[in-house]
Amino acid sequence: MLFPDYRARRLRQNPAFRRMVRETSLSADDLILPLFAIEGKNIKNPIPSMPGQYQLSIDNLIKTVRDAHALGIPAIMLFGIPEKKDPLGTQAYAKNGIVQKAVSAIKNKVPGIVVITDVCLCQYTDHGHCGIVEKGIIENDATLDLLARTAVSHTRAGADMVAPSDMMDGRVMAIREALDDNGLENTPIMSYAAKYCSAFYGPFREAAHSAPRFGDRRTYQMDPANSLEAIREATMDVEEGADIIMVKPALPYLDIISRIRDEIDLPMAAYNVSGEYAMIKAAEKMGWIDGAKVMMETLTSIKRAGADMILTYFALEAAKELRD
Ligand code: PBG
Repeated sequence: MLFPDYRARRLRQNPAFRRMVRETSLSADDLILPLFAIEGKNIKNPIPSMPGQYQLSIDNLIKTVRDAHALGIPAIMLFGIPEKKDPLGTQAYAKNGIVQKAVSAIKNKVPGIVVITDVCLCQYTDHGHCGIVEKGIIENDATLDLLARTAVSHTRAGADMVAPSDMMDGRVMAIREALDDNGLENTPIMSYAAKYCSAFYGPFREAAHSAPRFGDRRTYQMDPANSLEAIREATMDVEEGADIIMVKPALPYLDIISRIRDEIDLPMAAYNVSGEYAMIKAAEKMGWIDGAKVMMETLTSIKRAGADMILTYFALEAAKELRD
């Protein structure tokens, strides 16, 4: 059908028509709020490159989790900032580690919210890499056991779901086996399946003190130039037992989200990362864009591309916008 028989504007002429033909909807159900837990009491350290985001001690963390729950956000993703770091990242799997303590406090006070924990070593290792380092090489297989221990220890502390973000090969299988061996077969794994080696993680590394001390993450995170490889990564994680797969970052990788949606039938998450958040906040501060509108458009675009859920630092703001 061509003009003048077809007029696309007919169904755009009023808000009710537009609502009736809208293909994508965003709701608080789609949002997962990432949070940073730090030791101490009454701490709320602003993260300069992520306005509105904080490193929170457990008491303050609980307040924020309560707000998220009240706004209908179903889940949070928890990152820990430990007091000490060492070559093996032992605080990642310590019984009394920051994430373990935070998870159990949150599940105690706000049992209705799903707590997902980020499983990685980079915040906990003194070299800042996501695995064990030997002679300057990030050792894949030796790292798997530590990741599995971390996942089991988070789950024992009360985590509802674990999310490995390290990009070692075989980690989903190692974590699935360790959880099952410990009677934790009902704990799902959200795997950071297609995680790119991205400069958009810059503000996060400042927030979580997790920048590598030497080199970069190119030997384990994906090359931004690749797309077929994302399918292989996601397929591998599905076969190893992932329950939800993730693409990260989101906005510069909408094509990957869309492709994985077509090829894989598991629920898919997309991570709207720190740099994506920082860019919008910065441009808003300069008065160059309408921050709230760009936020909603961005989140809608990620859903339109095919994501079922979005990890985003905008979760609280977007949920408020959706409520009002
Ligand atoms: C840890 C991890 C990172 C992010 C999530 N988990 C940083 C990295 O891989 O360097 C980035 C999140 C963000 O930028 O918002 N492996």
